[in-house]
Amino acid sequence: MGRALTGTVIITGGNGQLGSEIAVAIAKTRPFVHLLLTARDPKADDVHALTTRIRLIGPRSIEVLPLDLTDLREVTKFAGQTVDRVHRRELPPIVDLIHSAAIASYVVDELTLDGFDPVYQINCLAPFLLTVGLLEAFRADDGTVDGGAKVMYVGCSSASYGRLDYFDHNQGRDSRPPGTPLSAKEGNIRFGSSKLIASVVLYALRRSLACTGNIPLDIFTLDPGGIAGGSHLRTGAPLSVRVAHQTRTGLRPFLRMVSRSSINKASVPAKVIAKVAFQRDTVENNERERYYILDSEYEAASVMSTLRNGPQMAGRLVQVMREAEGGKEKGSPSSMNTLQNAVTGLENESEEAR
Ligand SMILES: NC(=O)c1ccc[n+]([C@@H]2O[C@H](COP(=O)([O-])OP(=O)(O)OC[C@H]3O[C@@H](n4cnc5c(N)ncnc54)[C@H](OP(=O)(O)O)[C@@H]3O)[C@@H](O)[C@H]2O)c1
Repeated sequence: MGRALTGTVIITGGNGQLGSEIAVAIAKTRPFVHLLLTARDPKADDVHALTTRIRLIGPRSIEVLPLDLTDLREVTKFAGQTVDRVHRRELPPIVDLIHSAAIASYVVDELTLDGFDPVYQINCLAPFLLTVGLLEAFRADDGTVDGGAKVMYVGCSSASYGRLDYFDHNQGRDSRPPGTPLSAKEGNIRFGSSKLIASVVLYALRRSLACTGNIPLDIFTLDPGGIAGGSHLRTGAPLSVRVAHQTRTGLRPFLRMVSRSSINKASVPAKVIAKVAFQRDTVENNERERYYILDSEYEAASVMSTLRNGPQMAGRLVQVMREAEGGKEKGSPSSMNTLQNAVTGLENESEEAR
């Protein structure tokens, strides 16, 4: 490619239904970014089909690397290697990190080797650890229009069913053995809780990084709305979940009111994500915590009331940070130090607000 690359975009679950469409949408509109997709199996047929599709768009810089979010050590290693590559200028700094990978499950699962419910680890702990691990690789905000970087967590309206304390006691499970089917309601609360906690801790991280003043990172959640097609998230789900997905009757009143309730092809939210990922904002706008439902923008605290409770957010951030640290291998010392300072900043701010 004749022109220098302008930044790296990382998409987890890059081979998934939505992740792959996001990659295509960005490849179409941003020819000079480096696309770094992660997939559990980069040799899988869907990855090959995707890279072929992207190469047909035109010459693009793209790579697909293995990353299994059920292994926190792997997440830490991936983040460390990416930071090193950016430092060595093998990769341009990260301009967007898009957390699209997720699982839903409607049976009691074995805990991961790190000791967590896989739904919690994949949807919440691992994206959090990855964000923290990559802190040193994001493009710095130098005050120019092109400065700064964004972290987008792909959320879901099911977060409205979620509970912040869901995984606190014994990872949310009772004495039922692995393999026991869960009702639609139980499965949705579990999935929604993982999505809710992830959003809350990522907004808390954003707040704490901003208040320590050294890393203003624009972190937010985007709910893509209902997506038609072959998502694996509904595989094995009870029939009522699949029907609710088709009719969108499962949403609570507030979210039903604000949501675009139609079910779209994945390319629709993907185009929105590709646009929001490169949206240039005024400084004032950037300081606001925003939550997107497709391309509609909301004050994040109006969607998630927990964001009005600073001490609760700080507490949750500390807890998730400890859990992520307690994985098999700690995060790189520098990123964990940065985070530790950030958390201290948030705790002080919460203390002052009391
Ligand atoms: N589909 C919907 O209706 C809908 C609605 C609202 C929000 N969303 C959100 O949109 C996002 C994408 O969903 P989707 O519909 O594209 O789902 P999908 O097609 O099932 O894709 C999920 C992706 O996550 C990856 N993944 C699963 N377990 C993983 C692990 N242990 N480590 C690393 N990657 C893992 C999958 O990789 P493998 O191929 O290896 O399994 C796949 O790439 C999710 O965050 C979801 O919550 C979806």
